[in-house]
Amino acid sequence: MIDVHCHILPALDDGALDLEDSVAMAAQAVEDGIDVVCATPHIRPDHLVRVEELPSRVAALQMELRRRGLDLQISPGAEIAQATAAGLGDTELRRLSLGGGGWVLVEPAPGPLGDDLLALVDGMPARGVHAIIAHPERHAASDLEERLRELTRRGALIQWTADFVARAAAGDLVLQSASAGLVHLLGSDAHSSRAGRPLRLAAGIANLRQVCSPAQVQWIVQDAPRAILDGAESLSPPW
Ligand SMILES: [Fe+2]
Repeated sequence: MIDVHCHILPALDDGALDLEDSVAMAAQAVEDGIDVVCATPHIRPDHLVRVEELPSRVAALQMELRRRGLDLQISPGAEIAQATAAGLGDTELRRLSLGGGGWVLVEPAPGPLGDDLLALVDGMPARGVHAIIAHPERHAASDLEERLRELTRRGALIQWTADFVARAAAGDLVLQSASAGLVHLLGSDAHSSRAGRPLRLAAGIANLRQVCSPAQVQWIVQDAPRAILDGAESLSPPW
């Protein structure tokens, strides 16, 4: 399994507090059956993340995990705030995409998903990238489903938080959205081994099986994240 959203790099944004915390998160991932974690630090004004340092930070963590015998691949990436993404250059946007393959994890602006987000997604193909919309559950509004449909029509994929999916009961927002075909990826969005959401996907995936066919789950869990890291030129849910 591939986790496309995780704040695993140590002492950088509001994620892993230090290297031991990162290693403990990696151990959680391995225990859950995860093979690859995308390191997606916040790129937004309230976190000082130097983009040029990210490759060496990812390499350093990868080396430490190997040294400790943890079989987990760390893939580069970022979680780019909507307003920040709009202002970045095309080359920088691609450099910050998941695995460098052109799929950009976008953190929507606070509040309901707005027209600015649609415009950002609309402009992405001309910039040589595609959008993944992070945690829509934090942006619930009466028009959420229609907004997610619009974003999907424009070529974006929708990533929900695995722990939120794991806790959902029949009829809850995310399971309704999954039935409507609007769950495309799961991410842990884990920030620490010591507090908050765990670095796990399996429980969320198990809950998705309530409403999704095996083929749909296979696409969400395996096919889509693999294609993203492989830099797929186009990718849309086969339903
Ligand atoms: Fe995040």
